[in-house]
Amino acid sequence: MKVSCIVQTCTLLLLLHGQTIPAEKVKTVLKGSVNPCCYYPCQHMGICLRYGMDSYECDCTRTGYYGENCTIPEFWTRVRQHLKPSPNAIHYILTHFHWLWNIINSTRLRDWLMRIVLTARSDLIPSPPTYNSKYGYLNWESYYNTTYYTRILPPVPEDCPTPMGTKGKTELPDPKLLVQKFMLRDHFKPDPQGSNLMFAFFAQHFTHQFFKTHNRMGLAFTKALGHGVDAGHIYGDNLPRQLNLRLHKDGKLKYQLLNGEMYPPTEAMAKVNMSYPPTVAPENRLAIGQEVFGLLPGLSLYATLWLREHNRICDILLEEHPTWDDEQLFQTARLIVIGETIRIVIEDYVQHLSGYLLQLKFDPELLFSSQFQYQNRIAVEFNHLYHWHPLMPDSFHIDGDEIPYSQFIFNTSILIHYGVEKLVEAFALQRAGQIGGGKNIHPVIIGVTESVIRESRELRVQPFNQYRKRFNLEPYTSFYDLTENEETARELEELYGDIDALEFYPGLLLEKPRSGSIFGQSMVEMGAPFSLKAWIGGVSSVNLNALNKIIKISNEIIRR
Ligand code: HEM
Ligand SMILES: *[C@@H]1O[C@H](CO)[C@@H](O)[C@H](O)[C@H]1NC(C)=O
Ligand SMILES: *[C@@H]1O[C@H](CO)[C@@H](O)[C@H](O)[C@H]1NC(C)=O
Ligand SMILES: *[C@@H]1O[C@H](CO)[C@@H](O)[C@H](O)[C@H]1NC(C)=O
Ligand SMILES: *[C@@H]1O[C@H](CO)[C@@H](O)[C@H](O)[C@H]1NC(C)=O
Ligand SMILES: *[C@@H]1O[C@H](CO)[C@@H](O)[C@H](O)[C@H]1NC(C)=O
Repeated sequence: MKVSCIVQTCTLLLLLHGQTIPAEKVKTVLKGSVNPCCYYPCQHMGICLRYGMDSYECDCTRTGYYGENCTIPEFWTRVRQHLKPSPNAIHYILTHFHWLWNIINSTRLRDWLMRIVLTARSDLIPSPPTYNSKYGYLNWESYYNTTYYTRILPPVPEDCPTPMGTKGKTELPDPKLLVQKFMLRDHFKPDPQGSNLMFAFFAQHFTHQFFKTHNRMGLAFTKALGHGVDAGHIYGDNLPRQLNLRLHKDGKLKYQLLNGEMYPPTEAMAKVNMSYPPTVAPENRLAIGQEVFGLLPGLSLYATLWLREHNRICDILLEEHPTWDDEQLFQTARLIVIGETIRIVIEDYVQHLSGYLLQLKFDPELLFSSQFQYQNRIAVEFNHLYHWHPLMPDSFHIDGDEIPYSQFIFNTSILIHYGVEKLVEAFALQRAGQIGGGKNIHPVIIGVTESVIRESRELRVQPFNQYRKRFNLEPYTSFYDLTENEETARELEELYGDIDALEFYPGLLLEKPRSGSIFGQSMVEMGAPFSLKAWIGGVSSVNLNALNKIIKISNEIIRR
């Protein structure tokens, strides 16, 4: 009997045929009573399934490998392994050889390579989604219930001997200690790629349309049910909020004029709730799609820019389509804003972040003839990975003033006081911090880092090395291998006991950054698949032909 079907199906077929499963053939028995899946025996994305009391089987279906632990490559896998360059080699080529890229950029090769970048990266993300935080096995609920974030790897089984499986100590290091020792900023380290605060606030503004943990429901849940680029941070994540934010005339959003310029309305004007502390005066409580965007002037700034852009698009559309009503103008403008966003994200933001010399391109048509699932589900791991708090500086330099955090947080009068132009200039001139390498998080936000570590334990996120393997990277063999810093390596070893017990988020931040780069290999190799899948796959709510036309319109509008 060849076990090539999914294991549950095989069992079912065997039962239907009235056969019993020959135990010694299908099962692998391990000694002792530890849940064998705690050893993470199945390699190459094979799935661990328990049998009986203490045995397991790896489901290697479509992994390209076979054998007890999915470790033996099939013929074509072996061929591919020999031909495929390592991630570091690919990165090197993409960031060197200017002359080569100058040629490629202006030929059809550019489209061809862009297609490969998009499909190769997205292929690492299961689509439709598989797990969520409630289930350690495949199930229909995870697919159906979109109030959950999805999970790339299932939670660490509940009954393992150590918190991370079988490796490491029986108790994980105190998060406060971890953060104080390895994450807290000793001195500001600027990003060597030269990112500025405009970039940092863009990152935060853009990603908080799909990272909106529904704390009241629990850490496993999200309020952003679009699971991608839906511009919910501009229009609200639900219809009543959207309707309150809209002017209901010419497709526009509500606004107020201050010093002759357009700004978001107040909470009272829009009848929309924001999460401001009670100390913020009514006239300073700006109403924005995302509830928390009053937190920082950088976020309110982007909210203002997109508000103005939406209303500008409405003016252009009305001129060209005088027969369209408010609803059609609004809906079309929203699609255009989504199109503009993805274009800026890929061609400007990701271009900068990647350091690639290949000129990246956003064109939905690139993938029309490829196998690509236009759908997306935001993952818990993606959310944790994107905690890029080291970007934040020590204080904010605006128009000759130095503003400390205490006067910056929840102070929307900074936006009104300096105005959009001065703030853009200030944030464009000030450098952001390096994300990777450790010891670069400002004390004001270090608590968030501690939280994400605590939360990842509650959600039983698997060890860093498991994610390395999941994303086709070699697991690190020692803490020195990870950090290339003897002191940090020794201290980490002491706290964790085993490199295979290192947690996901600390691993990402403490990995040695690539030379001259904002972070290390893992952030890129894990972040890029999540990102590209979300940027391109997450627009499925939009009819693709419509989107395609919309992109063309938005390109024209951007050029105006
Ligand atoms: C001074 C600036 C910032 C402050 C005060 C701040 C504060 C916070 C706070 C209080 C939380 C909620 C933590 C929790 O519930 O456990 C949070 C979450 C988060 N922050 Fe920041 N943050 C800042 C900048 C940034 C930046 C620049 C990024 C970059 C992308 C970022 C990414 C995130 C993400 C992804 C989350 C998770 C959101 C969610 O799951 O709902 N933050 N931040
Ligand atoms: C499969 O993995 C288990 C647990 O890690 C190990 O004990 C066993 O020797 C492995 N089997 C093979 C054939 O490598
Ligand atoms: C999703 O799961 C949560 C938690 O079990 C539950 O409260 C909610 O009703 C579910 N939603 C759907 C659509 O099934
Ligand atoms: C806004 O907050 C007020 C006061 O807490 C509450 O009565 C109201 O229902 C909230 N509105 C929405 C739309 O959540
Ligand atoms: C190709 O792209 C790189 C990176 O964006 C850029 O430096 C170079 O000027 C581009 N060349 C052409 C011909 O577009
Ligand atoms: C808000 O910013 C303004 C302008 O920089 C400043 O004068 C004011 O003191 C700040 N308010 C608070 C509460 O920090």
